[in-house]
Amino acid sequence: MINLHDVTVSFNGQTVLDQISLSVSPGEFVFLVGQTGSGKSTLLRLMYMDLVPTEGTVVVEQYNSNHVREREKPYLRRTLGIVFQDFRLMEDRSVYDNVAFALHVTGAKGKDIRRRVLRALADIGLTHLRNKMPDELSGGEKQRVVIARALINHPSFLLADEPTGNLDPGTSFDIMKLLKEINTRGTGIVMATHNYELVRRMNGRILQVKDGKVFDVELK
Ligand SMILES: Nc1ncnc2c1ncn2[C@@H]1O[C@H](COP(=O)(O)OP(=O)(O)OP(=O)(O)O)[C@@H](O)[C@H]1O
Ligand SMILES: [Mg+2]
Repeated sequence: MINLHDVTVSFNGQTVLDQISLSVSPGEFVFLVGQTGSGKSTLLRLMYMDLVPTEGTVVVEQYNSNHVREREKPYLRRTLGIVFQDFRLMEDRSVYDNVAFALHVTGAKGKDIRRRVLRALADIGLTHLRNKMPDELSGGEKQRVVIARALINHPSFLLADEPTGNLDPGTSFDIMKLLKEINTRGTGIVMATHNYELVRRMNGRILQVKDGKVFDVELK
């Protein structure tokens, strides 16, 4: 569960989010839409607690923004998978090692790591690319690797900030289909996007961020 209670975020006295309350239930698929600068990334940062609200409370699973300690945040971020527009892969490691890294840091054992990484790569159709380096991949392939890495610890939610922002329309749609499939298997998804065409083609809850407020909208 993700809950925001009366959350306000201000930067240098400028209010970006103004007393927002919202909940995202387990297994929900939510699109965050809104103009550039409206606060979509800020909302996602609140959810993975990269940002503490100026006022109000964010609760994600058992973590509360008023009480969470720095050393707990890595655990929170395993409860969430995080995907960005610019991929953020480690360029000096193979596809396999990029995905495995997220397990190494949890102290998983060698054999277990291998089994889980191969499984995650297979699930997402990446087995044949496992020994490639990031600079040998297309944008869509890179984003699949990022998604495999984000899912490796079985997060309850995947948070995605414009995951298709650097991809062409066809590849974007493939990534969307993949996210939909992941959602069908039970992972909640919160995704910020500018791409209304994509939102229109998918079934999901749509939250619009506008003038500091967030509300549910229906696209016609
Ligand atoms: N660390 C920061 N310091 C100061 N201002 C910030 C900071 N982060 C965001 N802002 C401001 O907050 C507002 C919302 O930014 P945010 O990145 O959340 O927008 P966005 O909806 O994600 O935009 P985009 O669609 O361009 O990604 C913007 O006006 C931005 O300039
Ligand atoms: Mg943004």
